[in-house]
Amino acid sequence: MAASLSRDLAGNVNYRHPTYLGILASGLLTVLVIVGSRNLEHFDSALFGYTIASIVALGAIVFRYAVWLQRPATRTYWLRGWRLFRDRKKLFKNTTNAAETIGKNLIAQNFIFKRGFTRWLTHFLIMWGCILAAAITFPLVFGWVHFELEGDMGYRAYLFGFPVQLMEGRSLIAWLTFHALDITAIMVLAGCALAIHRRLKDRGAIAYQSFLLDFTPHLLLIAISVSGLMLTASSLWFEGYMYPFIALLHQATVIMTLFYLPFGKLFHIVQRPASIGVELYQSRSHEMEQAVCPRCATMFVGQLWINDLKSVVKQLGFDYRMKNGRTLQDYCPRCKRVMRGLAYAGLADRSEPVFYGTRADKAE
Ligand code: HEM
Ligand code: HEM
Repeated sequence: MAASLSRDLAGNVNYRHPTYLGILASGLLTVLVIVGSRNLEHFDSALFGYTIASIVALGAIVFRYAVWLQRPATRTYWLRGWRLFRDRKKLFKNTTNAAETIGKNLIAQNFIFKRGFTRWLTHFLIMWGCILAAAITFPLVFGWVHFELEGDMGYRAYLFGFPVQLMEGRSLIAWLTFHALDITAIMVLAGCALAIHRRLKDRGAIAYQSFLLDFTPHLLLIAISVSGLMLTASSLWFEGYMYPFIALLHQATVIMTLFYLPFGKLFHIVQRPASIGVELYQSRSHEMEQAVCPRCATMFVGQLWINDLKSVVKQLGFDYRMKNGRTLQDYCPRCKRVMRGLAYAGLADRSEPVFYGTRADKAE
């Protein structure tokens, strides 16, 4: 991730638009906080630190995302995904395909399941723990949701200042609502414990992991969850002992994580969903005019896909042109492997590698 960040921030990158977009996003969130909390009437000034950090972090995330979108491969596949999605004739089919990808890959995380049940469970617990915690805390911090005591009846929840739900003080719903963050904290802790266990035992992971990239996210999430649980313990069992200090600790760990978000491994939270467009492109490419491998005459992928791939490779500064006037990308994956093998064999003989004399060429 550090390498990919420096790639994003290096080279021929236009920083002006990403900067404007980042400032715009931060400005928009500021307006939403003011409007959504009814002119700050329901905004708790003790949570000012969280709010400022969220606004700055959002600007930084949007900035980094916009810079990332300038990378040749990201830009090409991101734009192609959107263009294909907007195709009016296939809008219904595209929406169904995208919904299917969201369900299978974003919500259920099937593709991690293929790597093993424990890895899936690890990520499921961390991801859903964090998403639920964020869904609860951000609206509360921004003053979009607040609770008011209603006589002996219990608490009433307000959304953007409008009354929504009355909860009896001793009902299960009220208990779950007030302990939801504790449940998410336990989910995150369990997920992080599984992840760290794997990282300490799995020889494959040990070989290439680094502390900054692979342990920092877990340590930050553990610090948030433990300090959160300490808040609950302090108020439930220790009559608020050290509460203000623990609240400050929780705030500090949350703010550190928010600032780490755009620059560390956790940036994949916003990067990964872009794969929906790539999956759509993959499935639509089967219906397009197909590219034919010049060596074995097999149709192997949409011609548009190959053209995009060639343009990305060219923009990245690689030259795969061959002596026979073709480009390596014109060949199917199997033939590419065979040709590489033949080239290595040719090297051993110290004679020229032979890339041509293929079936399709003979037919021409
Ligand atoms: C709030 C949301 C999310 C959080 C907090 C989160 C957090 C993490 C963490 C901490 C890891 C490292 C686990 C390890 O030590 O191996 C990880 C890995 C990973 N994440 Fe996420 N993630 C989130 C969302 C997503 C989404 C939306 C996707 C993709 C659609 C995704 C895809 C992945 C993948 C593929 C890995 C590698 C997993 C493995 O190979 O075991 N994550 N995530
Ligand atoms: C992994 C994510 C998170 C977990 C697991 C978590 C967990 C917790 C827990 C268990 C509590 C104690 C609730 C209680 O009093 O019973 C808490 C309190 C709190 N959390 Fe978090 N939290 C997370 C992220 C966040 C974020 C992102 C924010 C802000 C944007 C936040 C803001 C707060 C605030 C304002 C409180 C109340 C503390 C106070 O009284 O000052 N949390 N959290």
